[in-house]
Amino acid sequence: MRTVERIAEVRAAVGAARAEGKRIAFVPTMGFLHEGHLTLVDEARRRAAFVVMSIFVNPLQFAPTEDLASYPRDRDGDAAKASARGVDLLFMPDAKEMYPREMRAEVIPCALHRRWEGEVRPGHFAGVLTVVAKLLNIVQPDVAVFGQKDVQQATLVRAMVDDLAIPTEIVVAPTTREPDVLAMSSLNSYLSDAERGRALALSRALFAMRDAFDRGERRADALLTAGRRVLDGEPSVRIDYLALANGTSLEPVETAEPGTVAMIAARVGRTRLIDNLVLGA
Ligand code: PAJ
Repeated sequence: MRTVERIAEVRAAVGAARAEGKRIAFVPTMGFLHEGHLTLVDEARRRAAFVVMSIFVNPLQFAPTEDLASYPRDRDGDAAKASARGVDLLFMPDAKEMYPREMRAEVIPCALHRRWEGEVRPGHFAGVLTVVAKLLNIVQPDVAVFGQKDVQQATLVRAMVDDLAIPTEIVVAPTTREPDVLAMSSLNSYLSDAERGRALALSRALFAMRDAFDRGERRADALLTAGRRVLDGEPSVRIDYLALANGTSLEPVETAEPGTVAMIAARVGRTRLIDNLVLGA
């Protein structure tokens, strides 16, 4: 694996791989890699001969109230994991390389950005789409892999690529979970042992909703009640939203069907976690 920090080096390395006739796949991340990120690499590998990963903690997508400085980082550990998993090119730019000056143009997300995560984190998705657009322009991959874990992000990226005719196929890979079903996240490292136990209520609530769906329940309010019952058992978990949304538009639904997404965001101590589950999948 080669590690580079400059945009020009990415272009040269990707250009060389392309000249050898290789398809290019891309996995953008903010690092502190876990098995969820690495399964995206596996997915990328299945689809292309040359896999590029980026690790960049993107300041544009953090609100002023959110702590950019304390986002977990592990440069050397990440490079070792990426290399062991078969990444060919690791792009680790610093903020000066990505944003040498204040941006003069940014991507404005569609209205969906105001719901769910966007309601709690204003400006977040403009920052995400702007960096993803820039990274896609730097790498120019045939395919880019995102995680279902961040379903709203994946939906907005798909919409952007479609609307702006960016010639990259977007693949969304399933959420990787810990053996006890907690969704893997770089932020789980912030949880104390006690909080780690309480955090399980998020995924358990989603699985309770899926169980009710599998037993034939289709009314959103009844399904949400099944989820809330689990969350009531952990009153210290503060819920931002628990919702059932259309799998394509992420608009709330009153009646669930196969493909409907059960979504949750909640705070456990000082850590904000999100998770989702596709019903009937
Ligand atoms: P980050 O949170 O590091 O996530 C990078 C990618 O890994 C995203 O596509 C995310 O959905 C995926 N991912 C995270 N946890 C996962 C899990 N448990 N299972 C499967 N996939 C998982 O998302 C970002 O970074 C940033 O917003 C980024 C897209 C890189 C733009 O800055």
